[in-house]
Amino acid sequence: MKKRIGVLLSGRGSNFEALAESVAAGRIPNSEIAIALSNREDARGIEKARECGIEARVISSKGLEREAYDKLVIAALQEKRVDLVCLAGYMRLLSPQFVAAFRNRILNIHPSLLPAFPGLEAQRQALEHGAKFSGCTVHFVDENLDAGPIVLQSCVPIEDSDTPETLAERILREEHCTYTEAVRIVLEGRYRIEGRRVLIFPEKAQEKK
Ligand code: GAR
Repeated sequence: MKKRIGVLLSGRGSNFEALAESVAAGRIPNSEIAIALSNREDARGIEKARECGIEARVISSKGLEREAYDKLVIAALQEKRVDLVCLAGYMRLLSPQFVAAFRNRILNIHPSLLPAFPGLEAQRQALEHGAKFSGCTVHFVDENLDAGPIVLQSCVPIEDSDTPETLAERILREEHCTYTEAVRIVLEGRYRIEGRRVLIFPEKAQEKK
């Protein structure tokens, strides 16, 4: 049976699009995107999902406490029998209830080499700090911000001429490949979490099983 992915997004949706393309091209085998869900009506990613025939839903968070809102999102994901939740530019902190409902089944992508530069404007933070390298991180989501066990990271050098925009653009290109690879590893079950470490098994060992 195909593994079912739920994508949560709040904006442009380029990571969602990259995942959708990877699923369609078989780079994430035996999987499908069961739903793309947004807290924002105007999220471009939701339009993109509809354009490629993927079920898309907006659940507005207006006037709702975090827990009440997350209850609705959890219900929508459970109704679609989602195996893995991928946060793709989803700009909301998840409640502990959400994390517990999908324990070790939520991934996030963040545009820095965590634990450096968590939170907003990670690319600007890296630049202003004077870092020579930044990149992106795919990690499991726990109760803390940008903090769970790291699945994969990719490194991007920072050039003297970079602005937050040029750096963000180069990191974004890495994000698309890194997210695909991480989702593939997780859906194939090719990993083990030991404390904070995510140990990844080589593909061949898995095939021999
Ligand atoms: C991406 O750069 C992603 O890493 C970042 O938001 C952007 C979303 O772009 N996420 C975070 O900063 C989360 N802490 P997208 O909508 O085109 O995928």
